Amino acid sequence: MSHSVLEAIYTRRSIREFTNESVTLADLQEIIKAGIWAPSGLNNQPWRFAIVTDEEVRAKLSETTHYSRIVLGAPALIAVYLDREAMYDDVKDHQATGACIENMLLATEALGLGAVWLGQILKNKDKVNEILGLSSQYDLMAVLAIGHPQHRRQKSSRKGLDIFILKTFLQEGSDVFQK
Ligand SMILES: Cc1cc2nc3c(=O)[nH]c(=O)nc-3n(C[C@H](O)[C@H](O)[C@H](O)COP(=O)(O)O)c2cc1C
Repeated sequence: MSHSVLEAIYTRRSIREFTNESVTLADLQEIIKAGIWAPSGLNNQPWRFAIVTDEEVRAKLSETTHYSRIVLGAPALIAVYLDREAMYDDVKDHQATGACIENMLLATEALGLGAVWLGQILKNKDKVNEILGLSSQYDLMAVLAIGHPQHRRQKSSRKGLDIFILKTFLQEGSDVFQK
């Protein structure tokens, strides 16, 4: 189990080109289910979702972002929201929603699908809510564009671990830190 989780973490890439094949509602629900099993402070589960596969709605949403090509090309979108009325702590509720979204991306990978986390669209979040008929009670956190990847040749990179670890206080005799 832990091996497949690590594998999904390391092999997941943002997918921005999709085939025309549609994504089943069952898969979209599974992705959301993985999202809602993320931890949240007080287990308040402040996240909410809107599922969009309708072509007309996708076309309208595509006009709200610089990444219209991705939105138009993805057979499915999931808009992830924070429900302001379910919140108890600004920072913690945003952190929980980030955990939820990452769970969703890993679930997408596990289902053999691909996705990209779209954040630029937040610039027009009011417009997105208007298109989806949602009030300002729901604060848009991200839109996930989901589909079957056209290919998996995407490359990404990360800086070395040593850049991120500020301090290490090792118990004498414990394993030597490996770069
Ligand atoms: C908060 C956030 C916002 C992002 N917004 C966009 C976006 O608007 N458009 C896009 O193409 N990718 C977006 N991405 C994807 C990142 O570009 C991508 O995760 C990063 O380049 C690392 O690549 P990888 O996901 O393949 O490892 C976003 C990712 C995060 C976490």
